[in-house]
Amino acid sequence: MCGIVGYVGVRQAAPILLEGLSKLEYRGYDSAGIAVRDENSEHVEVVKAKGRLRNLMQMTDSGNAVRGCCGIGHTRWATHGEPSAVNAHPHYSKEKRVVVVHNGIIENYQDIKDMLRRKGYVFSTQTDTEAAALLLDSYYTEPGRSSLSPRERALGAIRDMMIRVRGSYALGILFGDQPGVIYAARKDSPLILGCCEGEMEGHMIASDVPAVLQYTRKVVYIDNLEIACLTREEMHVYNIDCEEIEKPVAEIRWDAAAAEKDGYEHFMMKEIHEQPRAVRDTLSPRIKEAEDGTRSIDLSETSLTDDDLRAVSRILLIGCGSAYHVGMAERYVIEKLSRVPCEVELASEFRYRDPILAQNCLAVIVSQSGETADSLAALRLCKERGVRTLAVVNVVGSSIAREADAVMYTWAGPEISVATTKAYSTQLAALYLLAVKLAAVRGSIDAAREQALIGELLALPEKIERILGDKERLQWFANKMAASKDVFFIGRGLDYAISLEGSLKLKEISYIHSEAYAAGELKHGTISLVEEGVMVVGVATQPELFEKVVSNLVEVRSRGAYLFGLTTYGQYAIEDTVNFTVYVPRTDPLFATSLAVVPLQLLAYYISCAKGLDVDKPRNLAKSVTVE
Ligand code: G6P
Repeated sequence: MCGIVGYVGVRQAAPILLEGLSKLEYRGYDSAGIAVRDENSEHVEVVKAKGRLRNLMQMTDSGNAVRGCCGIGHTRWATHGEPSAVNAHPHYSKEKRVVVVHNGIIENYQDIKDMLRRKGYVFSTQTDTEAAALLLDSYYTEPGRSSLSPRERALGAIRDMMIRVRGSYALGILFGDQPGVIYAARKDSPLILGCCEGEMEGHMIASDVPAVLQYTRKVVYIDNLEIACLTREEMHVYNIDCEEIEKPVAEIRWDAAAAEKDGYEHFMMKEIHEQPRAVRDTLSPRIKEAEDGTRSIDLSETSLTDDDLRAVSRILLIGCGSAYHVGMAERYVIEKLSRVPCEVELASEFRYRDPILAQNCLAVIVSQSGETADSLAALRLCKERGVRTLAVVNVVGSSIAREADAVMYTWAGPEISVATTKAYSTQLAALYLLAVKLAAVRGSIDAAREQALIGELLALPEKIERILGDKERLQWFANKMAASKDVFFIGRGLDYAISLEGSLKLKEISYIHSEAYAAGELKHGTISLVEEGVMVVGVATQPELFEKVVSNLVEVRSRGAYLFGLTTYGQYAIEDTVNFTVYVPRTDPLFATSLAVVPLQLLAYYISCAKGLDVDKPRNLAKSVTVE
């Protein structure tokens, strides 16, 4: 979604804001704007532009044309009001008394607008944010507040606004009569503060770590319903009662280089290649070897004891997008190994159906960003109902990580490309560990099987490397496929879960219409769409289902489909049926998702490149979906 950056300090703010925004552009990018205050001038200067950030950069000579050491900036992903310069943030009240950037949604903005119109306020945009800006102005200028100090006035007004608005927000705020001060507030949208030293001396706000990484690694996580006040020298955080509170400063372990392209043309390709490392980093620290060489899985970080795991009666796997697909795959793995019943839940649907949450349920919330609004809401519902929650999250310190009862971090490192690859792979890896651990403590697998499975897990990174070493064939095939209008992915069991992710990758970045079907379902309707030349990808990694998937492929071939077969080495019979085959190394079939997904990621990538599309920033999509 939208990205926020703010800086107050010794340096010129605008170039820092633009640089920070460029690191957040992946969150949303239909327009951008900055507001900067020069201490010697009367006014805050606001510059906004529709389209990519480069438009704003051109308008401001990369920020050099806008003078001042204090400012806020924003990249927008439109929710209320079309993408335009007018609707771009910052939004402000008359004479720029109050200037605001906002990430999130103000749900009751119409009521607020009506109320403010009755007081004489005039709105010039279609956004919900302008309602928050003008509401803040109305509180800030209340006659009763005139005797207060500027900071008390600002804090009181922000608090009153937070009480009045419904919805989610991370806000960066400038007050026209308070040069050199940035205020910030949050509820259900991510926001961090950065502490800069040396020649950058000052403070920052940002909606995500990459925006500040180049300037500092010292950050403070702002919690819900907290307000921050930043100047060059000072940082203060207050609760909703405007009482100052102490916040710990955390050190970010990622370095700025981890968020650079490293010689790859696109972040997606770089991240695809980081998968062996990321999967290894997620698995290895949790696998312990005893002196006699036997290995075991250590999940003590989650504080789930063996007794807890034995008592689990049901597992809910909850997520959105690819994280949901991780759940779809893990259901097969967990149920097969541990015999604990699993349900896979779309976080966006979960809370609206009044779910039945039994005692001893374990809710596993899967999320790369740890900020997805629906996943966070599902987590909160589980907690409210007394269900124990485990977060499988990539971003350290994110909302889901902090609010869950326990966390298993996926050590993918920063993922910039909107289409997830390495985060998905590490989520799979983390949950394989849970599956094997559950099975081992519950006695549903014996020691030999446990050792074999752990051995297979440890071999996955090297097998992913082998797949990456043979990617040119896929590039050739992708060029042929780029003209496709529709692509169907089919598979059974785990291969259906893989198909879902392969299909999502393709449509996300190539804009080709694509659907995934459980192969047996095809003939109940969808097969009517198959005609001469339609591409069908058949995933057949599961030995016991291989022949069934192949016979479904034969059915579509006889209707004219052009077939891509994806299977494991050894299953060469598929070549009699399909037009093009890709083999992945053999592993335990339960872990095949981790290997089979890689050619599908590469396929989507190469097709997107062949079509000349913006691989890392596909249209209309955002990396971190912090609105419902
Ligand atoms: C967005 C991203 C997807 C991601 C989904 C869930 O749609 O583009 O790649 O799978 O959100 O995000 P999360 O951060 O919760 O994993």
